Amino acid sequence: MTSKQNDNMDANFPIEIAQVELSDLPAVKGLLTYWMDYGAGPDFEEINASVAKVEAALNGQPDSGYFVAKENGAVVGFIGFYKPEEKMTKHAKTAKPIELVNFFMKPEYRAKGIGKRLFNTLIETVKQKGYSEVILNSGVKFGSTGGWGFYNRKMEYVGQVENFYNDRYPTRIWRLDL
Ligand SMILES: CC(C)(COP(=O)(O)OP(=O)(O)OC[C@H]1O[C@@H](n2cnc3c(N)ncnc32)[C@H](O)[C@@H]1OP(=O)(O)O)[C@@H](O)C(=O)NCCC(=O)NCCS
Repeated sequence: MTSKQNDNMDANFPIEIAQVELSDLPAVKGLLTYWMDYGAGPDFEEINASVAKVEAALNGQPDSGYFVAKENGAVVGFIGFYKPEEKMTKHAKTAKPIELVNFFMKPEYRAKGIGKRLFNTLIETVKQKGYSEVILNSGVKFGSTGGWGFYNRKMEYVGQVENFYNDRYPTRIWRLDL
């Protein structure tokens, strides 16, 4: 990897990684609506709860932050972090974990190295903020969409947890020491 790949902007591949802005919210909501569909249409409860957390971060909520990947100003990818709940912290191995959430690319922008740039930006940010580890969970749907493949390459697999979502659906958990 060249050092250029970690820059916010690569001249050969003009995708910018930036902190989310208020004006990005409609596009971010579009991405969440596309991916948070588990077979019965978009899960608006989860989508609205996620958007509320992005808005809270924009309003200065500590322990959270979101980044977008943009091409010519248009959002093509998204990633975020926030303070985990107990059902996640119990899988952490260190004292100050932070949770990675909402990692989504527009389908046609996947597998071009953009997700890795979003991920690296998040990792650098939370490291600088003094967190000790990143933890995340990813539902079964994302086993075939690139999510599990990405996490297996970049993080340590913790295991599968049954009855995680709505006390009913399983998920898998990964972690990474910072
Ligand atoms: C998961 C996702 C965000 C990754 O972003 P991306 O831009 O496609 O990933 P990149 O092109 O940056 O790939 C980064 C690395 O992951 C690997 N990778 C990506 N998809 C993979 C897959 N399906 N299987 C195995 N490895 C994979 C790449 O080979 C690359 O490895 P390298 O750094 O060793 O070269 C993106 O594919 C996506 O939006 N998928 C659909 C939604 C999803 O599954 N989100 C996760 C929700 S929990």
